[in-house]
Amino acid sequence: MDRTDCLAADGADPLARSRASFALPEGVLYLDGNSLGALQPAVASRLHQLIEHEWGNGLIRSWNDAGWAELPVRVARRLAPIIGADPDELAVTDSTSTNLFKALAAARALRADRDVLLTDDANFPTDLYVARGLAELVGDLQVRVVPSAELLEHLDDRVAVLSLTHVDYRTGRIHDPVTMTTAAHAVGAVTVWDLSHSAGALDVDLHAWGADLAVGCTYKYLNGGPGSPAYLYVARRWHEEATNPIAGWFGHARPFDFDPDYVPAAGAARFLNGTAPVLSMAALETALEVWEGVARAEVAAKCASLTATFIAAVDATCGDRVEVVTPRDPARRGAQVSLRHPHAYALTRALMARGVIGDHRPPDLLRFGFSPLYVRHVEVWDAALHLAELLTTGAWDRPEFHARRTVP
Ligand SMILES: Cc1ncc(COP(=O)(O)O)c(C=O)c1O
Repeated sequence: MDRTDCLAADGADPLARSRASFALPEGVLYLDGNSLGALQPAVASRLHQLIEHEWGNGLIRSWNDAGWAELPVRVARRLAPIIGADPDELAVTDSTSTNLFKALAAARALRADRDVLLTDDANFPTDLYVARGLAELVGDLQVRVVPSAELLEHLDDRVAVLSLTHVDYRTGRIHDPVTMTTAAHAVGAVTVWDLSHSAGALDVDLHAWGADLAVGCTYKYLNGGPGSPAYLYVARRWHEEATNPIAGWFGHARPFDFDPDYVPAAGAARFLNGTAPVLSMAALETALEVWEGVARAEVAAKCASLTATFIAAVDATCGDRVEVVTPRDPARRGAQVSLRHPHAYALTRALMARGVIGDHRPPDLLRFGFSPLYVRHVEVWDAALHLAELLTTGAWDRPEFHARRTVP
């Protein structure tokens, strides 16, 4: 494979049309859409219109006149096909961390006679913190954290909840969702999946997985904008039984009855709590328009092709000066590639100075994400060339590239 092959792959890319919806700065190779997705000009226009007209002129009337009240439902409708769910199985609200708390608590309550929450030591820190926080709160729950490869042997009839992140944020390795969900169900446990690194990048099909509950963010591959609202999925079979531990008025069946007694809304809507963040919800609604007519399989195939291209380019140009830690089998990885190098931080900063934007995960990983709607094969190839050049010249070894910043 070489640069010409990359140009040919871009020419034949069925998703190439979607790139036109994005505004990427000139001269930037953006390989960090797994951290923060890129802006679409339509989102900026929508926010401008909302602020000026709906808020500025419409004021409180816009909850009705501009349809603000229905935003969570409309966004759920756009999001559902991207993750293989039905709209009424989704509550679009809060952060992933908050939704995780609600989902884990609800899952635990469905298996109240059990005392173990099982997860793995590769899970994202917030997932571990939230699980431990819940265990402290409820008292009779123990969080069992085991190496990923040992999860199956730790699934037993004490396990109430199996909580896993589909794609490992460090290495890009995926858990096989069907294997893990089936094994959890075989011992009577309920699953909670974190889809933050998979929705919009892989063929996530929650119905086909048999998933129980799931959460995920929308600011990565779904391009909702910094801190955009997250979502919580509850499979239809749990709709009657699942309870939201934060019973807020927006999760009430009729919030504007101002009923002092809580009556949960039907479906996943009972996992809403408070007033929707209208600005970021509207931004997300517009950001999701670009997914109309995009097939999940198409997205997954593009990501597999982009990651394969990057691995091939790194092998060809960097050789053994970096270690590819992401699985080489495309079926076992998400839409990211991580490289190990003892000076990963300085290299990441030096790449950024050249306009190649990836990120760093301590202690020694350079991480690159390949957002299917706007990344081109040729950019992936060129990013690897920049890295090889830095490794050859040693130009990454400057004090300004070693200086630590708040967000790595
Ligand atoms: C896998 C995973 N879960 C959860 C989070 C945190 O999400 P939030 O900040 O929306 O709570 C992140 C953030 O990057 C993540 O990567």
